[in-house]
Amino acid sequence: MTERVRAQYESYPYPPRDPRDEAKRLIEGSPSHLLEINHYVFAGRRDFRQPFRALIAGGGTGDGTIMLAQHLADRGCPAVLVYLDVSSAARAIAEARARQRNLTNIRFMTASLLDLPTLALGPFDYIDCCGVLHHLPDPGAGLAILTAALKDDGGIGLMVYGALGRTGVYHLQAILHQLAADEPDMARLDLARRLLKQLPSTNWFARNPFLRDHLNVGDAGLYDLLLHSQDRAYTVPELAALVGAAGLAIAGLIEPWRYDPASYLNDGALLKRVAALDWLERAGMAELLAGNLKVHICYAVKAGHVATAVARPSDPAMIPVLREGSGVESARNLKPGGTLTARAEGLEARFALPRRAGPILARIDGRRSLADIHADLAAGDGARLEWPAFKEEFDRLYGVFNAVNKMFLTHDNKR
Ligand SMILES: C[S@@+](CC[C@H](N)C(=O)[O-])C[C@H]1O[C@@H](n2cnc3c(N)ncnc32)[C@H](O)[C@@H]1O
Repeated sequence: MTERVRAQYESYPYPPRDPRDEAKRLIEGSPSHLLEINHYVFAGRRDFRQPFRALIAGGGTGDGTIMLAQHLADRGCPAVLVYLDVSSAARAIAEARARQRNLTNIRFMTASLLDLPTLALGPFDYIDCCGVLHHLPDPGAGLAILTAALKDDGGIGLMVYGALGRTGVYHLQAILHQLAADEPDMARLDLARRLLKQLPSTNWFARNPFLRDHLNVGDAGLYDLLLHSQDRAYTVPELAALVGAAGLAIAGLIEPWRYDPASYLNDGALLKRVAALDWLERAGMAELLAGNLKVHICYAVKAGHVATAVARPSDPAMIPVLREGSGVESARNLKPGGTLTARAEGLEARFALPRRAGPILARIDGRRSLADIHADLAAGDGARLEWPAFKEEFDRLYGVFNAVNKMFLTHDNKR
């Protein structure tokens, strides 16, 4: 890794966080939400009563670390998380956040992920590497090192920058690099602010209203977006190639609806041809269509395990679980004929829901299996509700709610 990248994150730990805020809220996101990990890596069948070892590679100020450590602690899982980062300033913030929450399941280390082979910390069930690989001089070498520390049936949650959604960023990075590559940080930040005020209206950055870090995240955001010394972005095929070269395969892309051309098109002739593509080709096409993916978040597993990594609603014993606190509460009161609207970076997509969406959602409590929900609905239904009719409605509901990252599947290990 370059010394310059380390120095940046010593001066500007990213993202900026105040440990005292842990008293008010838990920041949850992707990758590394426990429901997602279980769904996309362990087919919903991981028993969290068993020991679980996770590595957070480039943990920064702790968002992924704190979320996953809290989720595992809430489950009473005998877990160990290893947090690794080159920035001691970022680590200090992450450690203070863990103290605020009384989390004792994290081991903090200041080191480069590139040193993993000599640190002998693995193997891990799960590795989080969010917003880090694209800052390495050789991201492929970094991912190969992470893969070597992964158990055969484990998985990696990745986030890398998306090329199309960052249109304009690299134009400004190039200009600022030419104008002031080696000046002190304060001078470079000042030049960046001046440049932003002078952008012609035709400039691609000026025309991309979804790039907001320089406005919302202070100096650290401005530096990270426009002054980074080592930063690249990926298209879907480039991400698939990066993952494939490490012997991994993509198990899921988050959020799935954004990677499906059918979310954006309704012309039958187009959709018919789209349907003939494989899912990664469709994902790449969706990226080209929408043009607004600023990051790619994916779960990757060893290539030989990809066919069995993701949970499917095929077994009546599977238990659907909703990600609470994201509008799902109101969906439980849906009337027949309801729709769900998904929004992302200037784009809106509307999905039709099955007739019994509301009653099914109202019965999803993280404990009832598909068989339980069917039995309960059938008992209260005047007309007989056969399993195939229920399953057809559930599959359509699941297709939408999983696509918007609000529904996952788990298996009750206690049964
Ligand atoms: C953009 S931040 C992301 C932090 C965190 N993963 C998150 O998503 O909030 C990138 C982090 O990667 C760290 N980093 C960069 N290169 C690294 C390396 N070779 N080994 C470990 N950490 C590294 C930086 O110090 C920084 O804290």
